[in-house]
Amino acid sequence: MSDTSTETDPQSAIDAQGEIRRAELDDRIFEHSAGDQQEGIPFVGAGPGNPRLLTVAGRELLETADLVVHAGSLVNSEVLDAYCDHAETVNSIGKDLEELIPLMRDAYKEGRNVVRLHSGDPAIYGAAIEQMDALEHEGVPTYFVPGVTSAFAASATLRTQLTLNEVSNHVAFTRPQGKTLTPEEDHISDFVEMGDVTTCIYLGTHAVADTMNRLIEDGHDEDIPVAVVYHASWPDEDVMIGTVGTIGEILEEAGHRASAMVIIGDAVTGAGYERSFLYDGWANRGSDSGAHADTDETDEQPETDQETTTQ
Ligand SMILES: C[S@@+](CC[C@H](N)C(=O)[O-])C[C@H]1O[C@@H](n2cnc3c(N)ncnc32)[C@H](O)[C@@H]1O
Repeated sequence: MSDTSTETDPQSAIDAQGEIRRAELDDRIFEHSAGDQQEGIPFVGAGPGNPRLLTVAGRELLETADLVVHAGSLVNSEVLDAYCDHAETVNSIGKDLEELIPLMRDAYKEGRNVVRLHSGDPAIYGAAIEQMDALEHEGVPTYFVPGVTSAFAASATLRTQLTLNEVSNHVAFTRPQGKTLTPEEDHISDFVEMGDVTTCIYLGTHAVADTMNRLIEDGHDEDIPVAVVYHASWPDEDVMIGTVGTIGEILEEAGHRASAMVIIGDAVTGAGYERSFLYDGWANRGSDSGAHADTDETDEQPETDQETTTQ
């Protein structure tokens, strides 16, 4: 962290912090764990919407905040109503770094408890780190407090897992081409092509029909299941379930153009999986044979199996 209190333009600050990141590891990585109370401005994940899905750490920070800078309509106002009644709240939507950084820096330096509230988890399409680097450059420490990302809320709503034995071995968090990604940088078709990936699309509600058309043009099966969960965990949550061939029209009728999670893959249905090694005798077989040892002896022994056998 730089100790300067001079006002630097955010891009120079980000560049300077990038150099520091490249040159040396931040001591705080080894001094603190996620969830610890730390000095500085916390970048808190508000979770997907339902105030009950905020972490305990996030709730404590909001309840003692003087200033909460939140991500506008991306954060359910119920979270603010529930935990931030006493605090000044500022909507960050429409504000650039040039406005946001001095706002948070000055409040922090005046001794106020400042919380930056992002939707879901700030590490997923949150653009948090650029704010953090700019603040750090101004002498204001920052840290992450994780939240429940919307893909996890959507999978809970759908009553399924994103990984399913023999169905989906991997999860991709992605977004479609548009202003930010070129067509070459859009990998949705590549993930679907892999067959055993559950593809979770953020920031793609407005583009579902186009995305599905591209999948069909690329030769993918029109019957691959697709779910769209609008406002997962909010009171007006809406769930649409179809396939690559049908979901575009279903969504068009529902009329949602933003704030939905799109999940592609067989895991959407939760069907067709095989029972796991974990609850298929492996755990007991290991109990008196030393198989609990913390080794990578077999590829078929997931790390979580090792932990579960000790419970
Ligand atoms: C800027 S990104 C932020 C993602 C957020 N950091 C997270 O972890 O969920 C916004 C996108 O996240 C998804 N999203 C956020 N909250 C959602 C919710 N409650 N239900 C469904 N999708 C949501 C939508 O795809 C939306 O376009």
